[in-house]
Amino acid sequence: MALQRTFSIIKPDATRRNLTGAINAKIEEAGLRIVAQKRIHMTKAQAETFYGVHAERPFFNDLVSFMTSGPVVVQVLEGEDAIAAYRKVMGATNPANAEAGTIRKEFAESIEANSVHGSDAPETAAVEIAYFFAGNEIVG
Ligand code: TYD
Repeated sequence: MALQRTFSIIKPDATRRNLTGAINAKIEEAGLRIVAQKRIHMTKAQAETFYGVHAERPFFNDLVSFMTSGPVVVQVLEGEDAIAAYRKVMGATNPANAEAGTIRKEFAESIEANSVHGSDAPETAAVEIAYFFAGNEIVG
């Protein structure tokens, strides 16, 4: 498997509890390299566009409110099979179902406030990375 990139967000529940470093340690321990990173406060429009695929879901409005409730850290991660590798260390969407040792098992508060986002496929990773980063902000 070739070197691959994925997009990550450390969500407001985690930045609020000062967990950026602890989550980055998990990312690096999983063999992923943080090749771009910035702390931003998402606008409502950005969050609505980012989660547009969920626009018809009942949790959409709450999710947009949550994602704009505080700062987030957006990142590009690089490594062998990075998309699957990050999904594995993130753990299941609902922390109640996440495996021991995963980020969501250790840190997430709920299915909504679940500490991290990670892309689910190469196509979405490319779109998500380009939405938040210019090419010259990513240093591999
Ligand atoms: P999803 O893409 O299903 O999960 P993942 O983040 O693991 O790829 O959902 C996106 C986000 O939507 C999820 O991280 C948290 C939120 N969400 C809810 O708030 N309630 C729900 O019931 C679901 C399924 C997701």
